[in-house]
Parts: sequence; C-alpha cells; structure tokens
Amino acid sequence: MSNQETIPGPCHFVIFGATGNLATIKLLPSLYNLEVAGRIPGDMSILALGRQEYTQEAWLEHLDKVLHDKFGDKVDPQIAARFAKRFAYLSGDLREPEFYKKLREELAKPREGICSNIVFYLSIIPKDFNTVINYLDEFGFSKPRGLHRIVVEKPFGTDLETAQQLNRSLHKHFDEEQIYRIDHYLGKETVQNLLVFRFANTLIEPIWNRNFINHVQITVAEDLGIGTRADYYDKSGALRDMLQNHLMQLLTVVAMEPPPSLEADAVRDEKVKVLKSMRSIPKDAVNAYAFRAQYAAGTAKGQPVQGYQEEQGVEPNTATETFAAAKFYIDNWRWRGVPFYLRTGKRMEKTQSTIAIRLRHPPQHLFHDTPVEEIEPNWILLSLQPNESMHMELHIKAPGLGMETRTVQLNASYRKPDEKPLEAYEALILDVIEGDKTLFIRFDEVEWAWRVVDPILKHWQQERDFIHTYPAGTWGPQETSRLFDCEDQEWRNEL
Ligand code: BG6
Repeated sequence: MSNQETIPGPCHFVIFGATGNLATIKLLPSLYNLEVAGRIPGDMSILALGRQEYTQEAWLEHLDKVLHDKFGDKVDPQIAARFAKRFAYLSGDLREPEFYKKLREELAKPREGICSNIVFYLSIIPKDFNTVINYLDEFGFSKPRGLHRIVVEKPFGTDLETAQQLNRSLHKHFDEEQIYRIDHYLGKETVQNLLVFRFANTLIEPIWNRNFINHVQITVAEDLGIGTRADYYDKSGALRDMLQNHLMQLLTVVAMEPPPSLEADAVRDEKVKVLKSMRSIPKDAVNAYAFRAQYAAGTAKGQPVQGYQEEQGVEPNTATETFAAAKFYIDNWRWRGVPFYLRTGKRMEKTQSTIAIRLRHPPQHLFHDTPVEEIEPNWILLSLQPNESMHMELHIKAPGLGMETRTVQLNASYRKPDEKPLEAYEALILDVIEGDKTLFIRFDEVEWAWRVVDPILKHWQQERDFIHTYPAGTWGPQETSRLFDCEDQEWRNEL
C-alpha cells in the first residue's frame, strides 16, 4: 500500500493535547512501540503540547508513568531513555496567540541538518480544531504548502454541514495531501486483513455478493461506559461517535469492489462508490431502519454499575444514545437486496467487534427425508477484537450410522504465539511519518458517510422525549430485532 511522497520524513512531531486521554492511552504508547521497532527517524523530535504546567523534568516523569502504566516492567530502560530524549514539553493555552509564538520559537531552535517538515497531530476536542488550524496558518505553519502534515482526529464535524465547514477551513490553509483524517479502525489488523482475505483468495471473491450472501452484521460492542467523557459524549452519542465513522468504514471495506491497485486513491475511490450507492433512508421511515437506546444500571465485569443518566456530567433527562443500530442497503450490482445490519454500544455484555456474514441456504433441501430437518446457514465470522481471527462454519456429517449433521468451525487465528499484537495507532502514525494515505479518510468519504446517517441524526434530534433503555452488561434491547428483514435473521453475539 504505497503512495509515498518523495518528500523527506518529518523532523518534528507536534502533539496538541499531549496530556489528554487519547495521547495517554494510545498515541504515546504507540510512538514508544515504534521506537522499540526502530521505525522513528533518528532525527525526529517530539514536541508535546498541553495545558498543564509541566517542567521538562515533570513531563518526562509523566511520560515514564504513561509507559509503565501501559507496559509495566516490559518497558526497556535503554529504549525508553532514547525515546525520552526526543521530547520537549510546551505548556500553554491553544486558544491564545502567545502559545503559537512559543511554539514557533521552539521549532526554530537550531538543530543538525536541514529539516523543516513537521507533523501536527490534533489530539484535541473537535470544537478547538478551527482555532488551532487558524493559528497554525497565522503563524506560518501551513507553509511551505505540501510539506507539513496535519492529522485530524474523528469526529470530523458533527453533521454534514459542520464537516463541510471544517473541511473548507482546513483547505483554506492546507492542501489535501497535507491532511490526514484519521479513523483508527482502519489501522486495525483485521481491517487490513479483510483486504487480503477478500482479494488474495480466489475462494472468497466469487461468493462475496448477493447470490451467496443473505446479510452482513457489523458489531462493535464495548463493555466500558462513558467514563469521564460526558462533556464530549453527551453531545455526540453512539451514532456520531462510532457508527458514522468506524462502523461505516468497516462496511465500505466489506462491500467495496476490488480496486485497480492498492494506491491510496484507488482504494478510497472504491470505498466512496459504496457510500454513494447506499440507499437513502426515507425521512418518515427512520424507525424502520434505525434504533437507539441508552444503558440503565446493570453490571460490568460482574460489578454493579450505574446507568447513563447517573454518569457524572450527563445532562438530566438526556436522550443521547449509548447504543445505535441501523440497517442499510447498498443498491449496486453486487449487493442489491442484501441488508447490512450495524450496531454499536457502550456497557454491553462484552468488548467484542465482529463482522458476521451469513450465507444463503443451499438451493435444495436434500436432507429433508432424514433427521436433519433444518440446517443452519453457513457463516463467515471475522473478529477484530479482543482477538483477531477468522472462522468459517461448515456442515459435516456426524460420524456414525444414520444421517446426522454437525457444524464445524474452520478457525484461523492470524497471529502466531510469538507475534505481538499491533496497536492500530502504531500503523497509522507510521503511515503519517512515511506519507502513506491509504488508511486515511478522504473528505468525500466523510461527506458521503454523513449523508447516509443524516436522516437518522435529524430524526433523533427532533425526538428527544423518549429513548429505550437496556441494562448495562447486556447485548442491548430486544426491540432491535425489529430491524431484521426476515424472522430467521437475528443478531449473532457469539463467535
Ligand atoms: C473512539 C470512540 O473513536 O473509539 C470511543 O470515541 C471508543 O468512544 C473507541 O471507545 C473504541 O476504540 P477501540 O479501538 O478501543 O475499539
């Protein structure tokens, strides 16, 4: 997957929001892992920006704690010391011009060799995106055009209109090739593996269509609640936080046509075609296509937990959904008539993400005169997490006299025992450093994904009086089954 630019690798990696949740949990550990793998350019410095008043020393202590919290005693002291040397910390308020003056001074400090290529990673709340982008331009950081890179975290806008505004604002100051819209689900092994699974196996591609597939289910379930993120989450909800981006991206990778090559734009062209072929949900039929709910008190990992309404920072009587499910159709030659059921939720029974593909029944029931009354259809199950694996369910005759059948699973776990799992962010950060945009989102993908969910969003925004609930620690409300087209379709929870 290469679309490498010929420009040199960056020599500064600037993290806005370096003391925030995302940086702590994902970015800093992923950068450390890249250091371990020897993949960070030798001369690349990392500038951590945050509101907290850390001295350089205090920051390094914080960094050390972040790494030890994540990796325990697996942190290699020598590598950690080399990693720490790359860092400088700058405190300040990103809404104040003073901060950017300090940033400019820091970046202008003399260093060996000639390098002016900078990555700006915006690991900040979306409402600050515009402020930072404008200041970066005002202080000359968007120049030279094409050289610096800017990484923008999801959610990209809160609806179609705000996404378009944000994009205009970015384009005022940066060229498209400088912009990396990140959706970390695209960095997950299974998503990349899906491309290989589909397009490197002659066995799979011929059955990957409406002639053989009955329906597709995409589930991203989390057992966690919203934690301390009410400020963001209560204004967002599961549809915006997960379905419009992560689940929709998974859908496009499942459904896209084989691209002519793995060049970034060739892949993204195919993904956009899928989104453009998605049937619009009629305004007056949203309830037949989408379902939302909120977690009530229940259990998580065997412990009692409170409901969403009781979480700290959540608005009283909020109708924000913590569970969203929807049915989509892709009206093209390959998929017409095949429902794609998507669901995601917080505080569900377990943390598990799967793509489950149910095949059609065989055209003839040959076994009806035998004890085999009803044979379950075949399933192909791709697990993204907690484990990455692929299962294929097939029927066989059970050994012995008589005609009994049994379902067997062909299980393929991707990872050998000595291979360590990769964080999605590791792959993506490396792609930013190397200038490969295949696993980043082009704006037309964002735009079309908003168009697809827009009718649901609007409808839910208007209907604020009632929302279904589900006890924490379950697979969501029973009522979601009303989305299914046929009685023999149901959510596949277990692998
Ligand atoms: C983020 C969402 O994009 O993805 C979070 O904002 C969610 O709400 C997270 O918990 C899930 O990511 P992962 O990689 O842990 O499945």
